[in-house]
Amino acid sequence: MHERLQAYLTYYREELEKAYASCFDKLEIPDNLKSSMLYSLDAGGKRLRPILLFASYEAYGEDVQKAMSSAIALEMVHTYSLIHDDLPAMDDDDYRRGMLTNHKKFDEATAILAGDALLTYSFELILSDPLLSSDQKVTLTKTLTACSGPKGMVGGQILDMEAEKQSVSLEKMEEIHTLKTGELIRFAIYAGAYLADATADQLHYLEKYAHYLGLIFQVQDDILDVSGEEEKLGKPVGSDELNEKSTYPKLLGLDGAMAQKEKYVKKAYESLKLADAEDSLLRALTDYFSERDH
Ligand code: IPE
Ligand code: IPE
Ligand code: MG
Ligand code: MG
Ligand code: MG
Repeated sequence: MHERLQAYLTYYREELEKAYASCFDKLEIPDNLKSSMLYSLDAGGKRLRPILLFASYEAYGEDVQKAMSSAIALEMVHTYSLIHDDLPAMDDDDYRRGMLTNHKKFDEATAILAGDALLTYSFELILSDPLLSSDQKVTLTKTLTACSGPKGMVGGQILDMEAEKQSVSLEKMEEIHTLKTGELIRFAIYAGAYLADATADQLHYLEKYAHYLGLIFQVQDDILDVSGEEEKLGKPVGSDELNEKSTYPKLLGLDGAMAQKEKYVKKAYESLKLADAEDSLLRALTDYFSERDH
Protein backbone atom coordinates (compact mmCIF):
# COMPACT_ATOMS: atom_id res chain seq x y z
CA MET A 1 0.00 0.00 0.00
CA HIS A 2 0.98 3.61 -0.65
CA GLU A 3 3.16 4.70 2.33
CA ARG A 4 1.39 8.03 2.74
CA LEU A 5 -1.97 6.30 2.82
CA GLN A 6 -0.82 3.71 5.37
CA ALA A 7 0.46 6.47 7.70
CA TYR A 8 -2.80 8.36 7.25
CA LEU A 9 -4.93 5.31 8.05
CA THR A 10 -2.95 4.57 11.21
CA TYR A 11 -2.87 8.17 12.42
CA TYR A 12 -6.59 8.79 12.03
CA ARG A 13 -7.61 5.40 13.37
CA GLU A 14 -5.73 6.24 16.57
CA GLU A 15 -7.13 9.79 16.75
CA LEU A 16 -10.66 8.46 16.38
CA GLU A 17 -10.16 5.75 19.01
CA LYS A 18 -8.75 8.23 21.55
CA ALA A 19 -11.62 10.63 20.93
CA TYR A 20 -14.45 8.13 21.33
CA ALA A 21 -12.78 6.56 24.38
CA SER A 22 -12.88 9.93 26.12
CA CYS A 23 -16.63 10.24 25.32
CA PHE A 24 -17.23 6.87 26.97
CA ASP A 25 -15.09 7.71 30.02
CA LYS A 26 -17.58 10.44 30.90
CA LEU A 27 -20.66 8.39 30.12
CA GLU A 28 -22.61 7.10 33.13
CA ILE A 29 -24.81 4.26 31.89
CA PRO A 30 -25.55 0.67 33.01
CA ASP A 31 -22.31 -1.35 33.06
CA ASN A 32 -23.53 -4.16 30.82
CA LEU A 33 -24.74 -1.74 28.17
CA LYS A 34 -21.45 0.15 28.20
CA SER A 35 -19.49 -3.11 27.97
CA SER A 36 -21.49 -4.38 25.01
CA MET A 37 -21.30 -1.04 23.14
CA LEU A 38 -17.54 -0.87 23.69
CA TYR A 39 -17.05 -4.56 22.93
CA SER A 40 -18.08 -4.04 19.31
CA LEU A 41 -16.56 -0.58 18.93
CA ASP A 42 -13.21 -1.69 20.36
CA ALA A 43 -13.18 -4.91 18.32
CA GLY A 44 -11.15 -2.87 15.84
CA GLY A 45 -12.83 -2.26 12.52
CA LYS A 46 -10.88 -0.62 9.74
CA ARG A 47 -12.48 2.77 10.57
CA LEU A 48 -12.78 3.49 6.87
CA ARG A 49 -15.87 5.68 7.12
CA PRO A 50 -14.38 8.12 9.66
CA ILE A 51 -11.12 8.16 7.69
CA LEU A 52 -13.06 8.97 4.55
CA LEU A 53 -14.79 11.79 6.41
CA PHE A 54 -11.43 13.24 7.52
CA ALA A 55 -9.99 12.90 4.00
CA SER A 56 -13.03 14.63 2.53
CA TYR A 57 -12.62 17.45 5.07
CA GLU A 58 -8.92 17.80 4.30
CA ALA A 59 -9.56 18.00 0.56
CA TYR A 60 -11.10 21.44 1.23
CA GLY A 61 -10.08 22.64 4.69
CA GLU A 62 -7.78 22.47 7.71
CA ASP A 63 -8.15 21.58 11.42
CA VAL A 64 -10.02 18.35 11.27
CA GLN A 65 -11.13 18.52 14.94
CA LYS A 66 -14.36 20.10 13.76
CA ALA A 67 -15.15 16.84 11.98
CA MET A 68 -14.41 14.56 14.96
CA SER A 69 -17.93 14.30 16.44
CA SER A 70 -19.36 13.44 13.01
CA ALA A 71 -16.65 10.82 12.50
CA ILE A 72 -17.34 9.17 15.86
CA ALA A 73 -21.10 9.33 15.27
CA LEU A 74 -20.67 7.67 11.89
CA GLU A 75 -18.51 4.85 13.26
CA MET A 76 -21.13 4.27 15.98
CA VAL A 77 -23.97 4.07 13.45
CA HIS A 78 -21.90 1.73 11.28
CA THR A 79 -21.06 -0.48 14.29
CA TYR A 80 -24.73 -0.62 15.30
CA SER A 81 -25.61 -1.67 11.74
CA LEU A 82 -23.10 -4.52 11.95
CA ILE A 83 -24.34 -5.74 15.37
CA HIS A 84 -27.88 -5.96 14.02
CA ASP A 85 -26.75 -7.35 10.62
CA ASP A 86 -25.12 -10.31 12.42
CA LEU A 87 -28.18 -11.22 14.52
CA PRO A 88 -29.79 -14.66 14.00
CA ALA A 89 -32.85 -12.99 12.45
CA MET A 90 -30.62 -11.34 9.86
CA ASP A 91 -27.32 -12.81 8.55
CA ASP A 92 -26.82 -15.04 11.58
CA ASP A 93 -23.03 -14.71 11.78
CA ASP A 94 -20.83 -15.75 14.70
CA TYR A 95 -17.69 -13.71 14.03
CA ARG A 96 -17.11 -10.02 13.39
CA ARG A 97 -13.92 -8.02 13.46
CA GLY A 98 -12.06 -11.18 14.45
CA MET A 99 -14.16 -11.73 17.58
CA LEU A 100 -17.43 -13.37 18.54
CA THR A 101 -20.39 -11.30 17.37
CA ASN A 102 -22.10 -9.15 19.99
CA HIS A 103 -25.07 -11.50 20.50
CA LYS A 104 -22.71 -14.48 20.88
CA LYS A 105 -20.56 -12.69 23.46
CA PHE A 106 -23.52 -11.20 25.35
CA ASP A 107 -27.06 -12.22 24.38
CA GLU A 108 -29.53 -11.19 21.71
CA ALA A 109 -31.42 -8.67 23.84
CA THR A 110 -28.21 -6.97 24.93
CA ALA A 111 -26.93 -6.90 21.33
CA ILE A 112 -30.15 -5.30 20.09
CA LEU A 113 -30.01 -2.68 22.84
CA ALA A 114 -26.28 -2.01 22.34
CA GLY A 115 -27.10 -1.29 18.69
CA ASP A 116 -29.99 0.98 19.65
CA ALA A 117 -27.76 2.81 22.11
CA LEU A 118 -24.93 3.36 19.60
CA LEU A 119 -27.41 4.74 17.09
CA THR A 120 -29.11 7.18 19.43
CA TYR A 121 -25.94 8.27 21.24
CA SER A 122 -24.43 9.19 17.87
CA PHE A 123 -26.98 11.99 17.45
CA GLU A 124 -26.38 13.30 20.96
CA LEU A 125 -22.65 13.52 20.20
CA ILE A 126 -23.15 15.76 17.19
CA LEU A 127 -25.83 17.85 18.86
CA SER A 128 -23.66 18.55 21.93
CA ASP A 129 -20.41 19.35 20.08
CA PRO A 130 -19.30 22.87 21.14
CA LEU A 131 -17.21 23.24 17.95
CA LEU A 132 -20.31 23.20 15.73
CA SER A 133 -22.83 25.98 14.99
CA SER A 134 -26.56 25.32 15.39
CA ASP A 135 -26.95 25.25 11.61
CA GLN A 136 -24.18 22.71 11.24
CA LYS A 137 -25.71 20.49 13.94
CA VAL A 138 -29.08 20.52 12.19
CA THR A 139 -27.60 19.81 8.76
CA LEU A 140 -25.37 17.00 10.01
CA THR A 141 -28.03 15.22 12.08
CA LYS A 142 -30.58 15.61 9.29
CA THR A 143 -28.15 14.06 6.81
CA LEU A 144 -27.04 11.30 9.17
CA THR A 145 -30.64 10.32 9.95
CA ALA A 146 -31.49 10.30 6.23
CA CYS A 147 -28.45 8.20 5.36
CA SER A 148 -28.99 5.67 8.15
CA GLY A 149 -32.80 5.46 8.26
CA PRO A 150 -35.62 4.09 6.09
CA LYS A 151 -34.45 6.06 3.04
CA GLY A 152 -30.87 4.93 3.66
CA MET A 153 -29.08 2.00 5.29
CA VAL A 154 -32.15 0.48 7.00
CA GLY A 155 -34.14 0.67 3.77
CA GLY A 156 -31.28 -1.09 2.00
CA GLN A 157 -31.08 -3.82 4.62
CA ILE A 158 -34.78 -4.60 4.11
CA LEU A 159 -34.30 -4.79 0.33
CA ASP A 160 -31.27 -7.03 0.92
CA MET A 161 -33.36 -9.41 3.05
CA GLU A 162 -36.19 -9.39 0.50
CA ALA A 163 -33.74 -10.20 -2.31
CA GLU A 164 -32.61 -13.42 -0.60
CA LYS A 165 -33.33 -16.49 -2.74
CA GLN A 166 -34.33 -14.20 -5.66
CA SER A 167 -32.60 -13.37 -8.89
CA VAL A 168 -32.41 -9.60 -9.26
CA SER A 169 -31.29 -7.28 -12.07
CA LEU A 170 -28.09 -5.25 -12.00
CA GLU A 171 -30.19 -2.10 -11.47
CA LYS A 172 -31.92 -3.63 -8.44
CA MET A 173 -28.57 -4.74 -7.02
CA GLU A 174 -27.18 -1.23 -7.46
CA GLU A 175 -30.19 0.13 -5.57
CA ILE A 176 -29.69 -2.33 -2.70
CA HIS A 177 -25.95 -1.66 -2.45
CA THR A 178 -26.38 2.09 -2.74
CA LEU A 179 -28.79 2.13 0.17
CA LYS A 180 -27.41 -0.47 2.55
CA THR A 181 -23.74 0.52 2.17
CA GLY A 182 -23.51 3.59 -0.03
CA GLU A 183 -25.56 5.93 2.11
CA LEU A 184 -23.25 5.82 5.15
CA ILE A 185 -20.31 6.36 2.80
CA ARG A 186 -22.19 9.30 1.31
CA PHE A 187 -22.52 10.78 4.79
CA ALA A 188 -18.74 10.49 5.28
CA ILE A 189 -17.96 12.33 2.05
CA TYR A 190 -20.69 14.92 2.47
CA ALA A 191 -20.09 15.74 6.14
CA GLY A 192 -16.34 16.25 5.71
CA ALA A 193 -16.62 18.52 2.68
CA TYR A 194 -19.62 20.41 4.09
CA LEU A 195 -17.78 21.20 7.33
CA ALA A 196 -14.77 22.38 5.32
CA ASP A 197 -16.99 24.78 3.35
CA ALA A 198 -16.81 23.08 -0.04
CA THR A 199 -18.88 24.89 -2.70
CA ALA A 200 -22.32 23.70 -3.85
CA ASP A 201 -20.74 22.59 -7.14
CA GLN A 202 -18.03 20.61 -5.39
CA LEU A 203 -20.62 18.98 -3.12
CA HIS A 204 -22.69 18.06 -6.16
CA TYR A 205 -19.83 16.14 -7.78
CA LEU A 206 -18.80 14.62 -4.45
CA GLU A 207 -22.28 13.11 -4.13
CA LYS A 208 -21.67 11.37 -7.45
CA TYR A 209 -18.23 10.27 -6.31
CA ALA A 210 -19.72 8.88 -3.08
CA HIS A 211 -22.33 6.96 -5.05
CA TYR A 212 -19.66 5.08 -7.02
CA LEU A 213 -17.44 4.65 -3.98
CA GLY A 214 -20.32 2.98 -2.10
CA LEU A 215 -20.83 0.55 -4.97
CA ILE A 216 -17.08 -0.17 -5.18
CA PHE A 217 -17.02 -0.87 -1.45
CA GLN A 218 -19.90 -3.34 -1.44
CA VAL A 219 -18.85 -5.11 -4.67
CA GLN A 220 -15.47 -5.75 -3.05
CA ASP A 221 -17.23 -6.92 0.15
CA ASP A 222 -19.24 -9.39 -1.98
CA ILE A 223 -16.08 -10.54 -3.80
CA LEU A 224 -14.25 -11.07 -0.50
CA ASP A 225 -17.18 -13.10 0.81
CA VAL A 226 -16.42 -15.54 -2.02
CA SER A 227 -12.65 -15.38 -2.38
CA GLY A 228 -11.29 -13.68 0.76
CA GLU A 229 -9.43 -15.17 3.70
CA GLU A 230 -11.40 -15.52 6.90
CA GLU A 231 -8.40 -14.71 9.08
CA LYS A 232 -7.75 -11.42 7.33
CA LEU A 233 -11.42 -10.51 7.11
CA GLY A 234 -12.26 -11.27 10.73
CA LYS A 235 -15.70 -12.47 9.58
CA PRO A 236 -16.92 -15.63 7.86
CA VAL A 237 -16.38 -16.28 4.17
CA GLY A 238 -19.34 -17.89 2.38
CA SER A 239 -22.02 -16.21 4.51
CA ASP A 240 -23.73 -14.78 1.41
CA GLU A 241 -23.99 -18.14 -0.34
CA LEU A 242 -25.34 -19.75 2.83
CA ASN A 243 -28.04 -17.07 3.10
CA GLU A 244 -28.69 -17.16 -0.67
CA LYS A 245 -27.99 -13.44 -0.92
CA SER A 246 -28.17 -11.45 -4.13
CA THR A 247 -24.56 -10.39 -4.74
CA TYR A 248 -22.43 -9.17 -7.66
CA PRO A 249 -20.47 -12.43 -7.97
CA LYS A 250 -23.72 -14.39 -7.98
CA LEU A 251 -25.20 -12.18 -10.71
CA LEU A 252 -22.12 -11.59 -12.86
CA GLY A 253 -19.58 -14.25 -11.81
CA LEU A 254 -16.31 -13.33 -10.08
CA ASP A 255 -14.69 -11.90 -13.24
CA GLY A 256 -17.85 -10.02 -14.16
CA ALA A 257 -18.02 -8.51 -10.66
CA MET A 258 -14.39 -7.34 -10.96
CA ALA A 259 -15.08 -5.81 -14.37
CA GLN A 260 -18.15 -4.01 -13.03
CA LYS A 261 -16.07 -2.69 -10.13
CA GLU A 262 -13.52 -1.26 -12.58
CA LYS A 263 -16.32 0.62 -14.35
CA TYR A 264 -17.34 2.17 -11.03
CA VAL A 265 -13.71 3.08 -10.26
CA LYS A 266 -13.42 5.01 -13.54
CA LYS A 267 -16.66 6.88 -12.82
CA ALA A 268 -15.45 7.65 -9.29
CA TYR A 269 -12.20 9.16 -10.63
CA GLU A 270 -14.14 11.34 -13.08
CA SER A 271 -16.41 12.71 -10.35
CA LEU A 272 -13.46 13.34 -8.04
CA LYS A 273 -11.79 15.42 -10.72
CA LEU A 274 -14.94 17.49 -11.26
CA ALA A 275 -15.10 18.04 -7.47
CA ASP A 276 -11.53 19.48 -7.56
CA ALA A 277 -10.34 16.70 -5.26
CA GLU A 278 -8.31 14.44 -7.52
CA ASP A 279 -5.05 15.41 -5.78
CA SER A 280 -6.46 14.63 -2.33
CA LEU A 281 -6.14 11.36 -0.43
CA LEU A 282 -9.61 10.44 -1.64
CA ARG A 283 -7.98 9.24 -4.86
CA ALA A 284 -5.70 6.76 -3.02
CA LEU A 285 -8.61 5.74 -0.78
CA THR A 286 -10.67 4.89 -3.88
CA ASP A 287 -7.96 2.44 -4.97
CA TYR A 288 -7.72 1.04 -1.47
CA PHE A 289 -11.50 0.47 -1.31
CA SER A 290 -11.35 -1.36 -4.59
CA GLU A 291 -8.27 -3.50 -3.90
CA ARG A 292 -8.51 -4.18 -0.16
CA ASP A 293 -8.16 -7.78 1.04
CA HIS A 294 -10.02 -7.27 4.32
C1 IPE B 1 -18.64 -4.12 6.55
O1 IPE B 1 -17.98 -2.90 6.59
C2 IPE B 1 -20.07 -3.95 6.25
C3 IPE B 1 -20.37 -3.47 4.90
C4 IPE B 1 -21.04 -2.40 4.69
C5 IPE B 1 -19.97 -4.24 3.75
P1 IPE B 1 -16.42 -2.80 6.87
O2 IPE B 1 -15.68 -3.75 5.98
O3 IPE B 1 -16.01 -1.36 6.78
O4 IPE B 1 -16.30 -3.32 8.37
P2 IPE B 1 -15.31 -2.91 9.56
O5 IPE B 1 -15.81 -1.61 10.11
O6 IPE B 1 -13.91 -2.79 9.02
O7 IPE B 1 -15.45 -4.03 10.55
C1 IPE C 1 -24.19 -5.28 5.46
O1 IPE C 1 -23.81 -5.94 4.31
C2 IPE C 1 -24.29 -3.85 5.29
C3 IPE C 1 -24.78 -3.23 6.54
C4 IPE C 1 -25.65 -2.29 6.48
C5 IPE C 1 -24.34 -3.68 7.84
P1 IPE C 1 -23.22 -7.40 4.58
O2 IPE C 1 -24.18 -8.25 5.31
O3 IPE C 1 -22.66 -7.89 3.29
O4 IPE C 1 -21.99 -7.03 5.56
P2 IPE C 1 -21.01 -8.11 6.18
O5 IPE C 1 -20.42 -8.88 5.01
O6 IPE C 1 -21.81 -8.97 7.10
O7 IPE C 1 -19.97 -7.27 6.87
MG1 MG D 1 -26.23 -8.34 5.58
MG1 MG E 1 -23.70 -9.60 6.98
MG1 MG F 1 -20.87 -9.01 3.10
